[in-house]
Amino acid sequence: MKAPTKSIEPAQLTGHDLHQFQRFKELPLWALSNLVRIRLYRRDELLDQADAIPLEALDPATSAAAAERLIRATDPSGFERIISSLAQARQPQPANAVEIAQVLAHAARLVRAVVEAQCEEGLDPVVANVRRDFNETLFARAEAGGYDPTNADALFASAFAQTLIFGLLLAREASGVELGDNAYQSLPEGSYPLLRGTLRALTMDETRAMLGAAFDTAIDAVNAVDPSMLAPQEDGRDPVLYLYENFLRTFDRQAVERYGVYYTPPEVVRLIVAQADRALREGLGADGLMDGEVELLDPACGTGTFLIAAANFVARAAEARYGPGAVAAEVSDFARRMHGFELLVGPYTVAHYRMLREVVGHGGAAEHLPIYLTDTLAPPADAEGVEAHLAFLSAPMVAEREAADAVKQDSRILCVIGNPPYKRLKSGEVDRLVGPTMNAMWKDLKDPVRNAGQGRALNAFPDLYIAFYRWALWRLFEARGAEGRGVLAFITNRGFLTGAGFGGLRRMLRSRFDRIRIIDLRGDNRGARPADVTRDDNVFNIETGVCILIAWRGRDDRPAGAEATVEYADIWDANAFTAEDKHAWCQRAAEDPSLIRFRSVEGSDMDRLKPTGFTGQDWPALDELFIFASNGIVTYRDGFAYATRAETMSARIQRWLALPPRQARPRVQGNARSQSRACVAGPL
Ligand SMILES: C[S@@+](CC[C@H](N)C(=O)[O-])C[C@H]1O[C@@H](n2cnc3c(N)ncnc32)[C@H](O)[C@@H]1O
Repeated sequence: MKAPTKSIEPAQLTGHDLHQFQRFKELPLWALSNLVRIRLYRRDELLDQADAIPLEALDPATSAAAAERLIRATDPSGFERIISSLAQARQPQPANAVEIAQVLAHAARLVRAVVEAQCEEGLDPVVANVRRDFNETLFARAEAGGYDPTNADALFASAFAQTLIFGLLLAREASGVELGDNAYQSLPEGSYPLLRGTLRALTMDETRAMLGAAFDTAIDAVNAVDPSMLAPQEDGRDPVLYLYENFLRTFDRQAVERYGVYYTPPEVVRLIVAQADRALREGLGADGLMDGEVELLDPACGTGTFLIAAANFVARAAEARYGPGAVAAEVSDFARRMHGFELLVGPYTVAHYRMLREVVGHGGAAEHLPIYLTDTLAPPADAEGVEAHLAFLSAPMVAEREAADAVKQDSRILCVIGNPPYKRLKSGEVDRLVGPTMNAMWKDLKDPVRNAGQGRALNAFPDLYIAFYRWALWRLFEARGAEGRGVLAFITNRGFLTGAGFGGLRRMLRSRFDRIRIIDLRGDNRGARPADVTRDDNVFNIETGVCILIAWRGRDDRPAGAEATVEYADIWDANAFTAEDKHAWCQRAAEDPSLIRFRSVEGSDMDRLKPTGFTGQDWPALDELFIFASNGIVTYRDGFAYATRAETMSARIQRWLALPPRQARPRVQGNARSQSRACVAGPL
């Protein structure tokens, strides 16, 4: 409701009124009035408008009798129509999974806008403490998840809104009841201590007061979800799989791009899961993923894609072997044997929700899902990372940390699986994102490269995916509970297959495992391609080529110096060059492993994990051809120091020499550093 003197025309709104209008556009049905006119909207769509009271009647100079006459002369039917639409409005009932995602996303956008506005205006001290908890722990090191950490308010508001919506959804799923103000109580305390604590912090009196109507909108949106619409479809499609992606499409378009970067396509995940199952059988003599002894961990689980695919694999295997009656028990058992680690609270909440849906969808039950909010790369069992001054989350954070630490070092993990983050680390980021413990630990991957005189090649070494490889090797072979055997199944940047800086990693992989299988999905958008390959899409929405690594070791007692046999399969051999063809091939290969044509890879120790050039469709690397290689030169003051003609340069120097020293100095200094140029010199 605006003052009669204010316009309610959207084009004429400014400042606070405009911001408010933008926020209200997230509401399913709402009206804006200045007493003179009233407008009814469905989100941003104008549905109806009508006159209310004539402006003259509201003028204090107009007598009461004249105002009365003016009001009586106005037709009230339009106003009444709009008010009764509002009064009878109900939360829209989403008709399918896409609409569910949209309703949730609009509610989340409203929450995010209110939180952002409140951050600008100044937060209530209690809410400010919630924000501190979020920024220091739940969304710490957001850049590891692909977020821009420079705008802390926007990050907080976005994480707050997503956690609230998906936390509420989980509470509804876990309890099966309609939620109210104390929604957090619907999450069983023993099962979800951290999420319960987080939801509680997000729904305290002070936070609810801050959110106002946005809180009710969020609760209504979640209560409007009919869980049966999210059950797996007859054609096998799982609507929940796309729920988060569809949610992001409305919630934050740019985030879809970011999500595309890390969301592993289901076909690729299915292939990796099937290969992990095969490796457990072939290499460890286990009964694959169905084996009750096999504990599995995704150390960068995001929204749980791998864990869910593995649960689904177990469900299908159980049905095929024992019939449908066995599925619920097998899936429930698997839900206790799988573990996930995630750094960010948004994807973590979604992973809980999706995994619970998966288990329940197969008729199973899970009291507690072993998916933890933790920094995988942080060392277990010390106080680092859990801040004692946390306002609301101290106790649940400590409990979560202890549980995650137990998985990190003591549980009998026999399979590490997933799509860890890839991020080339700049100086300074290693300390922050890899941390001192891992930084010390991965030294043994760098030293061999340095000792081989290739130290310069270590420029490309600091990358998060390398840290995750080192961590996975630690978990399988060095951690306190390590069995000294197990399966590693990762999809990562493929640079480590050949890059000179990764020789140490290749040496360690060869020495720790019995067998290594590479499925090269390629998709390098930056490098050169052979002339006969015109297209080579990536299976993700990224520039850097990727490959799948499946490696296993069956027994702890291997002769010293033994090395893994290495096999390599190239997706180009399957004539798959477009993203669609690659996805389809992965899907087929997941069902029929004979489609994967592995070739054996010669070499040992730090040699490449790929057949050498000319044996396939590959070309040798430049550094194999040239006798001298340099990373290039960095040029400075180009405007002064470079010219294409000798006369130009000579004239420039003459002019400069003629300058008084005080002017001459800034002339050369002002021209700051310029670009670097790569060069490879020396004849063949
Ligand atoms: C490439 S994504 C993979 C997500 C998931 N496997 C999928 O395909 O949907 C990597 C995930 O690792 C998380 N992550 C990054 N650094 C981490 C760390 N140090 N500890 C735990 N998780 C981390 C990111 O937040 C992100 O969700």
